Amino acid sequence: MRKFFFSALIILLAISGEAQTKINVLANKPGAAIPSTMWGVFFEDINFAADGGLYAEMVKNRSFEFPTPMMGWRETRTSKEKGKYLIINQAAVNASNTRFARITVNAAKGEYILSNEGFRGMGFQKEKQYNFSVLLKTSSANNIKIYINLVNASGKVISSAAINNIAGDWKRYTSSIVTTDTAQRGKIQLVFEGQGEVDMDMVSLFPEDTWKKRPYGLRNDLVQMIADLKPGFIRFPGGCIVEGRELSNRYQWKTTVGDINDRKLIMNRWNVEFRNKLTPDYFQTFGLGFFEYFQLSEDLNAEPLPILSCGMACQYNSAEVAAMDELQPYIDDALDLIEFANGDITTHWGKIRNQMGHPQPFNLKYIGVGNEQWEAQYIERYKVFEKAILDKYPNIKIVAGSGPSAEGEYFNYAWKEFKQLKPALIDEHYYKPPEWFFKNANRYDNYDRKGPKIFAGEYAAHSKDTAISEGRNNWESALAEASFMTGLERNADIVEMASYAPLFAHVDAWQWRPDLIWFDNLQSFGTPNYYVQKLFSANKGTAVIPVLKDGIAISGKDSLYASAVVDKQTNELIIKITNIAPVANAVEFTIDGVKAVNKEVAVQELSAPDLYSFNTMAEPKVIYPAERTITAKGKKVLIEMKPRSFSVIRIKLL
Ligand code: AHR
Repeated sequence: MRKFFFSALIILLAISGEAQTKINVLANKPGAAIPSTMWGVFFEDINFAADGGLYAEMVKNRSFEFPTPMMGWRETRTSKEKGKYLIINQAAVNASNTRFARITVNAAKGEYILSNEGFRGMGFQKEKQYNFSVLLKTSSANNIKIYINLVNASGKVISSAAINNIAGDWKRYTSSIVTTDTAQRGKIQLVFEGQGEVDMDMVSLFPEDTWKKRPYGLRNDLVQMIADLKPGFIRFPGGCIVEGRELSNRYQWKTTVGDINDRKLIMNRWNVEFRNKLTPDYFQTFGLGFFEYFQLSEDLNAEPLPILSCGMACQYNSAEVAAMDELQPYIDDALDLIEFANGDITTHWGKIRNQMGHPQPFNLKYIGVGNEQWEAQYIERYKVFEKAILDKYPNIKIVAGSGPSAEGEYFNYAWKEFKQLKPALIDEHYYKPPEWFFKNANRYDNYDRKGPKIFAGEYAAHSKDTAISEGRNNWESALAEASFMTGLERNADIVEMASYAPLFAHVDAWQWRPDLIWFDNLQSFGTPNYYVQKLFSANKGTAVIPVLKDGIAISGKDSLYASAVVDKQTNELIIKITNIAPVANAVEFTIDGVKAVNKEVAVQELSAPDLYSFNTMAEPKVIYPAERTITAKGKKVLIEMKPRSFSVIRIKLL
């Protein structure tokens, strides 16, 4: 079908060589205001997005809480007598973090070593500082010294420090280490020297250079990638991760706040979700928990949008539901979260936020009830949540889900029911082939203007065209999304939020693709889809402007998709347009309803060698915005659009 679609276009346009299209932009007819939340991000801990990704901890299984307690660790000893470890489970010390390692040594330097492999290795930058910390306890005299070696993939030590004078009850020991070299897949070695016994827990290594230099914080480069998107909101923590495979595996925000030593680890559902992508070392330590999500949203001036379990486990997995008469703890989680975010510091949860260093409220406005739920069991539970939340917090905007598909039985049923209820927004998800996005760019043109607003909460074009680009973030997928997004923008009166999903993927540890941003342990790169998102968001504007051909919105006709906004702060008109044809198009815009426009017009353009091209770590800019200036003639702006390209045109109004 897709082949036919493109072949037909090629034949039609190849006849004329280059198309020419005349378009009118009604600059004096501003329509709906663009919501500040229009373009946001969807964050889920999938593909090592949190542990092993945004959360900058470099030690995997730092507290021996993985079901296989020494997963990620390796013991090296010259003989059995030199040293040994024993994993002790003692809930009395810390009920959330029950295990620690007891190390007994009688070794000279190098004879007993415990090393940790990190998350597919550890990335060390040359001449950068790394902060090591560990909890230690001894109950007997010892002369143990622990050397902290950072080594590269071949085992060469690229920096070292030591900890000694270990004595007494549990205490944090710290050391800062500066590297002499870069290592892509390094690791950390704890080299024990001396005689005695020491208990060890929470072995940790962080780069000094975290986001805002916060200790135990987030990876600076990855936060910067999000910041550059200027997101209007951050949706967290997912996704299916909200629901869990079973209820016991659901995301429970209360276990993710407070001291990191007390945050109880659980299995990440993506650990076992795909048989061909099993990831046995994927867990959630919650070092990136709800406080950090709120803090990040605040840092980036984005509305926080938490999505909570509504008492339903993933319906693709166990489909387990909490009994209706046992739903209260789930409802309490929602009400308490609002108190945690917004409550006065004298309230129970407001006090905890204050103790974590944030006396001011986070000003939470939105809350999601359930992720991809469907059928009557969802509506039944949703109603109880809606009543409880709105009774106590009438100004909170509730986001309800329409299920996993963009149409069909579950979707229609959800919409029918929600029209009778009071969600402020309906979350719609579409992971579809590129041609679906082209065909559905006008999806919202005829939506009911009196119903709930739309949150396009998870979307991505999934391209399957060639073996090499299958599932990749190729140009075809990005062009399809850009075309579709002109429809979102045109309908900003009902589309209040939109986010591509998922956000992140580790190149060596992903379970799902395509994804917006790819990273390894040292670097990251933006996909073409990332640049599409960025171009929309950075050129958000303040009100929709009609862009018409022969009086009709441009949504596929002549292979063009277009939308426009005005930015009243800068007095600029901003046009976004895709040309999906395999031939160029000389597009002439007439800017109606203004006195004049500035001669110099700025254009940012995305195009690609072919539809199946994509960016990689080695070649991150195959598809990258190119900037140029064109000249307006009077109120006319003529732009030569390349075949299969996307342009953002900024025109200063005079
Ligand atoms: O984005 C990946 C997954 O897709 C999300 O967890 C889920 O909501 C959807 O099915």
